[in-house]
Amino acid sequence: MSETHPVPARVSEGAVGPVKSLADWREVRQRSADDPDGFWLGVTKERLAWATEPTRGLDGSYHTIMDGPIAWFADGRLNITVSCLDRHAASQPDKVAILWEGDDPSEVKRITYRELHEEVSRAANALKALGLQKGERAIIYMGMVPEAAIAMLACARIGAIHSVVFGGFSAEALRDRVRDCGAEIVITQDEGLRGGKPIPLKAVTDQALEGERGVKKVLVYRRTGNFVGWTEGRDVWWQDIVPAQSADCPATIVDAEHPLFILYTSGSTGKPKGVVHTCGGYLTYASFTHATVFDLRPDDVYACVADVGWITGHSYIVYGPLANGCTTLMFESIPTHPDAGRYWDMVERHGITIFYTAPTAIRALAAKGDEHVTRYDRSSLRVLGTVGEPINPDAWRWYHSVVGEGRCNIVDTWWQTETGGIAISPVAPATPTKPGSATLPMPGIFPVLMDAEGRRMQGPGEGRLCIEFPWPGQARTVWGDHPRFVATYFEHYPGMYFTGDGCRRDADGYHWITGRVDDVINVSGHRMGTAEFESALVSVEAVAEAGVVGYPHPIKGQGVYAYIVLQDGYTAGDAIEAEMHAACRTLIGAHAKVDLFQFVPGLPKTRSGKVMRRILRKVAEGQPEALGDTSTLADPSVVEAIVAGAKV
Ligand code: WT7
Repeated sequence: MSETHPVPARVSEGAVGPVKSLADWREVRQRSADDPDGFWLGVTKERLAWATEPTRGLDGSYHTIMDGPIAWFADGRLNITVSCLDRHAASQPDKVAILWEGDDPSEVKRITYRELHEEVSRAANALKALGLQKGERAIIYMGMVPEAAIAMLACARIGAIHSVVFGGFSAEALRDRVRDCGAEIVITQDEGLRGGKPIPLKAVTDQALEGERGVKKVLVYRRTGNFVGWTEGRDVWWQDIVPAQSADCPATIVDAEHPLFILYTSGSTGKPKGVVHTCGGYLTYASFTHATVFDLRPDDVYACVADVGWITGHSYIVYGPLANGCTTLMFESIPTHPDAGRYWDMVERHGITIFYTAPTAIRALAAKGDEHVTRYDRSSLRVLGTVGEPINPDAWRWYHSVVGEGRCNIVDTWWQTETGGIAISPVAPATPTKPGSATLPMPGIFPVLMDAEGRRMQGPGEGRLCIEFPWPGQARTVWGDHPRFVATYFEHYPGMYFTGDGCRRDADGYHWITGRVDDVINVSGHRMGTAEFESALVSVEAVAEAGVVGYPHPIKGQGVYAYIVLQDGYTAGDAIEAEMHAACRTLIGAHAKVDLFQFVPGLPKTRSGKVMRRILRKVAEGQPEALGDTSTLADPSVVEAIVAGAKV
């Protein structure tokens, strides 16, 4: 427990970020606590280009949030693309903004700030020509091509609101999101390309839009050139419209609280929530945390190998890095293509200095053997980041000693779609690390642990993780459903934001995230609701009831364990399992796969009919001895059958 790694000298030497040492961290945090408004106003004026500088910090509080969203910098006006593009195109036009590496390692593109500024302007003019207006929504359903980032920025340029949907989601899931946000336009590509395999993005889009009348235009970037279906009058090739536009598109200036994007994420119901982030506060926080945590330096080559379909891609591939004028890598492929050395091959070829990935990838690559790592030169690396789920100490040590050869600091960054940016994490040049701990909160973030009785805990202990005070990067609302936003995050513990995570705090004040305490499971860093799985599974005719929980999985972090009650007259077997797999794939997406099915005579329920998920969880975790009190069950014999047939 007391294993602590000091910051390696080469990480702390020459630090340039807002927090260079632990003493800095204390001082900056103190300032953020003493005068949050003054602190964040100072940060935003220093980091962003405002058309009208704000004079106000925070408006509203968690106590008044039911009456309406909080606001930051409410009297400020800006267009965030000016911070991400125009000022860098003027001051460092030839610096590479996006360093793109395609599925095939030989395919590399370098887009400078001047070129990116021009291309975003052309794309923005094209969107305008297609009728997209300020405040309207665009769904972006693409793979990892530079045009995905360009499309996001082009929306922002004209004050439109984007919602990126991860390219693995199914037509049903895409249609739900198109409907929920009332999208006017979908931006997609003919096909994606990952690990040598085409992903049929346009075909899925066509299926999703069948019978949908709201979407007027579909803008299609040609990536593979393979044949795709076409709807005349609706579909437009990117290559036909974007290059023909003017490279000058004045930025539409909006209020600080104008929505920048909606990103759907899973919660404890079957319906994903459209988390809304707004312009001024979000970009301030993404920029500040990106510069602080990684101690970003002018000549850094920064690589975050996430997907723009998730918040990590928004905040730490696109918005944070571009606001900070850095070279940001976009990676189209997967870590094992053409082999398990791909990441480290890229590190050597591009001289990557900061590398940011997820625990699931680290575990999968560690299992492939060290030689895939050690055959490449990784001496350029200075900071190694991880995000998405708790990292187990073994995987942490492998990352630290094999990948980083002990020369890099590891930043285990805890945050969420809702926090907008990193909330608890080591600061690379400042924070001594402990394997498995996300360590200390960022300036402006005040974590609180609550015990089972809803009391605030002092000192070391384990409880539910809340955050006490608003910060600029946090989500403002759920699209179209503010009461749901309030109910999900602010009603459990009045006056606090509830994260949904459990957390332990040690004697040094370090934070150890223990995982979700709600009905959300985290598979390979993908957040999924058990209710979404359950509703997909019961759509199969043979299935009467389904209870889904997570269980520990050596590579994926959590696996998906489904308890299935069949309708009378059906027999358990491969055919029904195949149908259930197909239902999850069709209704959610290819990444939604049940790992273990257990057919059971019934689900454990209380006499009032509520499923006792605690029992399902304990059995799936291989701890049937820890079931606790089962005397309140309607039918205790169900539990015996569940324990007897357990798959773990
Ligand atoms: C949930 C948020 C933040 C971008 C990717 C996921 C888990 C995230 C860590 C970490 C332990 C982590 C939490 C959180 N999580 N980072 N470093 N250590 N757990 O975003 O899909 O919104 O999921 O991911 O459980 O609540 P997300």
